[in-house]
Amino acid sequence: MNRQTTPNDMTTAATPMGTHHGYMPGFGNDFETEALDGALPQGMNSPQKCNYGLYGEQLSGTAFTAPSHQNERTWCYRIRPSVKHSHRYEKITLPYWKTAPHIPQDVTSLGQYRWDPIPHSEQKMTWLTGMRTMTTAGDVNTQIGMASHIYLVTDSMVDSYFYSADSEMLIVPQEGRLRFCTELGVINLAPQEIAIIPRGLVYRVEVLEGPARGFVCENYGQKFELPARGPIGANCMANRRDFKTPVAAFEDRETPSTVTIKWCGQFHETRIGHSPLDVVAWHGNYCPVKYDLTTYCPVGAVLFDHPDPSIFTVLTAPSGVEGTANIDFVLFRERWMVAENTFRPPWYHKNVMSELMGNIYGQYDAKPKGFIPGGMSLHNMMLPHGPDKNAFEGASNAELTAQKLDNTMSFMFETRFPQHLTEFAAKEAPLQDDYIDCWQSLEKKFDGTPGKK
Ligand SMILES: [Fe+2]
Repeated sequence: MNRQTTPNDMTTAATPMGTHHGYMPGFGNDFETEALDGALPQGMNSPQKCNYGLYGEQLSGTAFTAPSHQNERTWCYRIRPSVKHSHRYEKITLPYWKTAPHIPQDVTSLGQYRWDPIPHSEQKMTWLTGMRTMTTAGDVNTQIGMASHIYLVTDSMVDSYFYSADSEMLIVPQEGRLRFCTELGVINLAPQEIAIIPRGLVYRVEVLEGPARGFVCENYGQKFELPARGPIGANCMANRRDFKTPVAAFEDRETPSTVTIKWCGQFHETRIGHSPLDVVAWHGNYCPVKYDLTTYCPVGAVLFDHPDPSIFTVLTAPSGVEGTANIDFVLFRERWMVAENTFRPPWYHKNVMSELMGNIYGQYDAKPKGFIPGGMSLHNMMLPHGPDKNAFEGASNAELTAQKLDNTMSFMFETRFPQHLTEFAAKEAPLQDDYIDCWQSLEKKFDGTPGKK
């Protein structure tokens, strides 16, 4: 258990929630943290009266009766209970943020697709208005599946807060820096890092350096967890200590504010007179987290062939079928290639899972051209894909010395469910019409001659 008592009352600072924040290491820990000394009850959760006149409140991330090794909840000690951060709801529209099931009738999702980076708009956009859904999968009403989004953010949310009852959000920045001011503390996020904001947690997003662009995986299902390493053992891949959860930080600010709630794919707004980010102390294991992707320790082939790309899984969200993820988050980063007598890039394949990829920076080895930073590609359920002609010829004829794949960081959101394009992805986003042609020039080499290579 971590104990953190750094004073962190930033209500008098010029910037709400201030700049004096810190993080506690670990993933799935039972953390405890207080921004004011003595705010956290000891030895019990619900004393008759809490210190400082705070209200005690539990945030349950799993069913009360979930097995203890999966059970997640956090006790919050706050200035007002959450019922005061909610009033009558009014439906609003965010037309570019779509939720499964969402299958536009005049869009063809069957195909291999690739997009250039979506350009920044001239318009001012916040975390809410700048979210652009590319694909959806599964069904939010049964809490399975996901959506992939691109965010384009120029402006901070001011006196405006948000939570998603539908999903946890896995955020993968590609450009710019953002600050997530959450009920449980502050996360600053830059490219090469990721963050997870749990379902139900209230937050606002500020722009530290803009414009900001990145990718989001909205997970409707069970939470992301670390994959079992199997025979790899206790170390490597993503290590628990490299995940960071913020210490408690609160604001005691009385100003007209709005809270937007995403619930079953619809957006609702409620008006309150103060900031809902008023948790002075908390303890528990249901909390936001960030992770530096450069601490991911890849494991791979050291003699010949290469394993399935699942070897590069950072986080996995189970679907209920063992070994079959609702979502895997997979990272393709710098690494050494040493395999002998081996075609080293990813092989040609078809997959029952559907694969959405994004490029954070650099050049991806199976697609030296066309898949560029900020860009995305989609290889949907049971659709063939693999190296383009240049990558195939290069890797087939390369001298197989030890080679460092450098300056490369791409990722995949891989789901067991087919992904459906939104109208935005099919009609407005910069889709590369000629992507399918990258395999066009692969020629037949076979002529029946034994030994021909
Ligand atoms: Fe693939």
